[in-house]
Amino acid sequence: MLYKSLGSVLFLAGLQAVSAQNSTACNNSPSLCSRQYNNVTYLGAHDSPFLRNDETDFSTSGNQYYNTTQQLASGVRLVTGQIQNPSNSSDLHMCHTSCDLLDAGTLESWLSEIKTWMDANPNDVVTILLVNGPGASASDLAAAYTSSGMAQYAYTPASTSATSTWPTLESMISNGTRAVNFVSTLDDNTDATYLLNEFNYMFENDYNNYNASDFSCTPNRPTNLANQTSTAISSGYMSLVNHFLYEQQAFGISSPNEAAITTTNAPSGGGAGNLGDHASQCAADYGKAPTFLLVDFSNVGPAIDTVDSLNGVSNPSGRTALPDTVLTETSAATIALPQTTTLCLGLGTALLAMVLL
Ligand SMILES: *[C@@H]1O[C@H](CO)[C@@H](O)[C@H](O)[C@H]1NC(C)=O
Ligand SMILES: *[C@@H]1O[C@H](CO)[C@@H](O)[C@H](O)[C@H]1NC(C)=O
Ligand SMILES: *[C@@H]1O[C@H](CO)[C@@H](O)[C@H](O)[C@H]1NC(C)=O
Ligand SMILES: *[C@@H]1O[C@H](CO)[C@@H](O)[C@H](O)[C@H]1NC(C)=O
Ligand SMILES: *[C@@H]1O[C@H](CO)[C@@H](O)[C@H](O)[C@H]1NC(C)=O
Ligand SMILES: *[C@@H]1O[C@H](CO)[C@@H](O)[C@H](O)[C@H]1NC(C)=O
Ligand SMILES: *[C@@H]1O[C@H](CO)[C@@H](O)[C@H](O)[C@H]1NC(C)=O
Repeated sequence: MLYKSLGSVLFLAGLQAVSAQNSTACNNSPSLCSRQYNNVTYLGAHDSPFLRNDETDFSTSGNQYYNTTQQLASGVRLVTGQIQNPSNSSDLHMCHTSCDLLDAGTLESWLSEIKTWMDANPNDVVTILLVNGPGASASDLAAAYTSSGMAQYAYTPASTSATSTWPTLESMISNGTRAVNFVSTLDDNTDATYLLNEFNYMFENDYNNYNASDFSCTPNRPTNLANQTSTAISSGYMSLVNHFLYEQQAFGISSPNEAAITTTNAPSGGGAGNLGDHASQCAADYGKAPTFLLVDFSNVGPAIDTVDSLNGVSNPSGRTALPDTVLTETSAATIALPQTTTLCLGLGTALLAMVLL
């Protein structure tokens, strides 16, 4: 039984006005329902809450043009973000490097946004990866999971380390435990065992790339698995492939490389560094497709095309496509989105001034 209530699904289908939605689709395709969680490739949005759009007056610190809800609606199934403390506060906020640079609100409000989307999309498995800037404890993080309601969806694996025995998407969905929650890093999760220390379960290639020729597939973290691809794979670690470029700004500040993004996220072509070629290289190295592909500006490419191809999905259902182009102040003014974005020009200008200083 995939659904607790067929009625709510029909209501949802009507609400979203989607045509011929397959009632048995899991993560946008019926073909994924019987796959184990670790045998699916997921599109990840790097720094999901940190936006480069009207809301931030196109802050150069922003990594995404569209918000977390829109990312999920367009097919993203791994959302990520950094937690930091605002100055003079122990509150947990989603902040880019520092809350003085880009503060996207509280962890609780971000989790609530994801929860709202998951409530409306009962057939989707979502992964959350939190970068734990202040080293918050499991109980402090869990407080936000509880108050936002996300705790109810949290899946707790039987294994406390890398494992090949993840459940299928359909069993996670029918069980109601369809959010997998990783934290980088969390040494002690005894107070909330659904909060998983990322590097107990997955490895990442190096994320710190400034040149497309630097993209690699080789494990970089955890340090005990550095350069040990076959050990990592045979031990059941999932792979997270970082596929985004930074560019150097003045005064030692780095920001997401927007100029190269059309090639960076492309399924093929455009010269070195496209997502499709990098993912194929990693699939060859790993002997199977990467589990997570993490990108900036996830609508561009569109990056989801590479993911669909790796999953063998040809007819995805239930997605809301976003424009696959770079969003600029000029283009934002002309794109007709379902709802208008809030303008916070004063704040955005202040943010920009801080970046430049
Ligand atoms: C829905 O999925 C089922 C099971 O995979 C399949 O048999 C059926 O053809 C699909 N229906 C549509 C309309 O895509
Ligand atoms: C899932 O399993 C199939 C069949 O073994 C394999 O071709 C594919 O690469 C796997 N995908 C992932 C993400 O593990
Ligand atoms: C916040 O902390 C800084 C030092 O970190 C201090 O200079 C400042 O006075 C504090 N502000 C408030 C309102 O406490
Ligand atoms: C189902 O949920 C229970 C409790 O919420 C959990 O212990 C179990 O691991 C879940 N099983 C699957 C297959 O998701
Ligand atoms: C990127 O790396 C390639 C190969 O090492 C090099 O030829 C090129 O100049 C580099 N580009 C930049 C912008 O540094
Ligand atoms: C991994 O390989 C890179 C490139 O050859 C090297 O610079 C690095 O020191 C290696 N790391 C470890 C831990 O062996
Ligand atoms: C996300 O963006 C859409 C479109 O601008 C907007 O309607 C919605 O309110 C935003 N969601 C959140 C949680 O900010």
